[in-house]
Amino acid sequence: MKLDASHRAALNDILQWRRDVRHFRPDPIAPEVMDALRVAVDFAPSVGNARPWRVREVATPALREAVIENFAKANAEAAKMYDDEARARYDALKLAGLREAPVHLAFFTELAPAEGRGLGRQTMPEMLQYSTVTAIHTLWLAARAHNIGVGWVSILDPDAVCSVLGVPDGWSLTGYLCLGHAAQADDTPLLHRAEWQENTYAPWQIL
Ligand SMILES: Cc1cc2nc3c(=O)[nH]c(=O)nc-3n(C[C@H](O)[C@H](O)[C@H](O)COP(=O)(O)O)c2cc1C
Repeated sequence: MKLDASHRAALNDILQWRRDVRHFRPDPIAPEVMDALRVAVDFAPSVGNARPWRVREVATPALREAVIENFAKANAEAAKMYDDEARARYDALKLAGLREAPVHLAFFTELAPAEGRGLGRQTMPEMLQYSTVTAIHTLWLAARAHNIGVGWVSILDPDAVCSVLGVPDGWSLTGYLCLGHAAQADDTPLLHRAEWQENTYAPWQIL
């Protein structure tokens, strides 16, 4: 298949409007959209074609509540590293939309999968985790193409998430995601808008 300017323009729109979303409307995501996202994730690249991501949709209210509590605790702990002025600004940031998002997805990495037969990960075993990150990013872009926002929540105790969700030993939490319709449309990163961290351009150097 040869792609043309219209594909490039569409991709550019998706990239520009992807953004990390923390403000969600509570209305559900249509089942056919969730099906399309599952298909999209399987297009992601992975080391040795190992596909080490293991995805759990967290739908049970008690489990979601446990994750929300986990976040609140980790976030309160994280705030302590800032001095008074920065801490007040940190506390004012919205760093997760866990309560409102209609869908929670936990992406784990299986750390010793048979799949891939070890190819590509002998010297850099972290490639398995990186592969799961490619799956998450694939989901992020595909979701945006369906007008669904994604927010990545990393302010969590990962072992506690593994334990409360009862995942097998040998799985590691790579990313916890909130999905839903964005409550507001914005193509500017929230941390830039909140003047916490402005967007900086990382130049490429030719060596
Ligand atoms: C690995 C990873 C972890 C992140 N964890 C969080 C998080 O816990 N809370 C949050 O508000 N945003 C989180 N983000 C989103 C970033 O803050 C966001 O990507 C960044 O500020 C740039 O904004 P943009 O995604 O809208 O371009 C995470 C992003 C990545 C890639």
